[in-house]
Amino acid sequence: MCGIVGYVGAKQAQSVVVEGLRRLEYRGYDSAGVALAHEGAVAWDKRAGKLANLEAALAESGLPESCTGIGHTRWATHGAPNDANAHPHLGEHRRLAVVHNGIIENFAQLRSELEDAGHVFLSETDTEIAAHLLELEVEAGHDLTVAMQNVCRRLEGAFTLVALDGQDPSRVVAARRNSPLVVGLGEGENFLGSDVAAFIEHTREALELGQDQVVTITAEGVEITGFDGTPAEGKQYHVDWDLTAAEKDGHDWFMRKEIFEQPRAVADSLLGRRDDAGLLKLDEMRLDDSELRDIDKIIIIAAGTSFYAGMVAKYAIEHWTRISVEVELASEFRYRDPILTHSTLVVAISQSGETADTLQAIRHARVQRSKVLAICNTNGSTIPRESDGVIYTHAGPEIGVASTKGYVTQLVAVYLLALYLAQVKGTLFGDEINTVMDQLDEMPEHIQTVLDQADQVYDFARSHVDTRSVLFLGRHAGYPVALEGALKLKELAYIHAEGFAAGELKHGPIALIDQGMPIFCIVPPRGRDQLHDKMLSGIQEVRARGAHTICLAEEDDETIAPYADALIRLPKVPVLLQPLVAVVPLQLFACELATAMGHDVDQPRNLAKSVTVE
Ligand code: G6P
Repeated sequence: MCGIVGYVGAKQAQSVVVEGLRRLEYRGYDSAGVALAHEGAVAWDKRAGKLANLEAALAESGLPESCTGIGHTRWATHGAPNDANAHPHLGEHRRLAVVHNGIIENFAQLRSELEDAGHVFLSETDTEIAAHLLELEVEAGHDLTVAMQNVCRRLEGAFTLVALDGQDPSRVVAARRNSPLVVGLGEGENFLGSDVAAFIEHTREALELGQDQVVTITAEGVEITGFDGTPAEGKQYHVDWDLTAAEKDGHDWFMRKEIFEQPRAVADSLLGRRDDAGLLKLDEMRLDDSELRDIDKIIIIAAGTSFYAGMVAKYAIEHWTRISVEVELASEFRYRDPILTHSTLVVAISQSGETADTLQAIRHARVQRSKVLAICNTNGSTIPRESDGVIYTHAGPEIGVASTKGYVTQLVAVYLLALYLAQVKGTLFGDEINTVMDQLDEMPEHIQTVLDQADQVYDFARSHVDTRSVLFLGRHAGYPVALEGALKLKELAYIHAEGFAAGELKHGPIALIDQGMPIFCIVPPRGRDQLHDKMLSGIQEVRARGAHTICLAEEDDETIAPYADALIRLPKVPVLLQPLVAVVPLQLFACELATAMGHDVDQPRNLAKSVTVE
């Protein structure tokens, strides 16, 4: 949510900053802007709309040369997405420029104090007060670092601020509280970014920052302090992916590329999870087996797609470990006074590791003395840093706003967690765990088999461009997949889409069905339970009412064909693992339908990839 870039070095800051913004645009695309330090003043440009608007304006009348710059791509909170509210914002005397991600909660009070003192504001944003306050500080003789420390102590809420002083081109200064910021370490140049994608083209060495810290970058170095000026250290790390991972690689959309990367992503998530004796190991987890043995309840908290991965986790963990699991939306969790004890394990699932709702939820859990385990894709992000342990999903950077490889690798991580708990608690035998691990190892190949049918799915999608409503039905672990399929369609195609537990349909939603309505039916594998046959009855019921059924069923399941208007074949896998393959056609369908409708798949309207405000 909002992308932020800062640069000091020998290169032209404008191109470094704009390039960084392009790689961060998935974080928000309501407006974009850039500011440079030039001959004792600030030069800037900012435009409503996507980054392309700013680039077009800069191509027409470029900013002057400068080696010091900041930039911003916005997801609007305070104020409409217009030119005036676009960042950067400037101080009263235009000496200082600021970009901001987050919400300054006490901005109204600070703004009225400044207005009483004669300040004039040009935007409706909360950010502009930070620019005015910082400028007052530097005009009073403080350097920008001290100015930032002084101002941050007065601010409440969540913020990453990045500022430059036109009269001091040697530095860019930033601060973070509850909002993401990383430093990129170069040779004779340094970078700031909301995430490492901002500078991956220049360096793969990064520095993690702590909470309530101010960081000053110059061409030669990086200095970190607390808001009170106390020196602090960042944690350096090497980014294990490079620029090619952040490019589309011949695909029309990042999302499509990421869908096709899923076999590799799942294989990477599974890599190195068994020791020489064949036992499952989760190296990064940092929780003792003795602590895990005491766990008597698990609460999974997450948002969006990650929440649906959490729902699948409930089926797997309860089945394999007999520990009871609750799954809760992060935004609801802490406001309902949840029952948490030291033997409750809270599992926070977050691709970005920055979702504000999830972050606040884990903080609440830790205050109540529960252990918190993060399942996360982003190394060095806030949620794993503030958790007791982490399972990284190793999907590589996910840039498409709608999560795909992030989701399937979260599923892998929850299966691993469930099996690990079963190993520790002894609820499964070693050979049972190994059997599931072997089945997981086959998943990249199975996902590829589904991807090989992409053309068939694309044909369905293109024939549905006029569709205004789609339903998704699933049972058991297929139910969260139905919800995820519907979410993908809402996010990308902006049409009514809903997922239902197939058995629940007859208790109300069946009234929605009219002639020709497309309904995706995720058919469970045939097994000892009755799931498959119950689903078959459900399919017959909706078809009898005129629905157009698109069934996802096992490759040799001939019982479905008579009731399927369209049939997508899934490889034979156990019911608990079926989400890994069943979700793929739904992702392909949403991606292709949105493309056919002329939507921007990577940057759907109103959304942002990582929602860093509550
Ligand atoms: C946003 C994104 C969703 C994502 C959700 C949770 O709403 O648009 O795609 O699933 O945040 O994100 P997280 O990074 O915590 O998994």
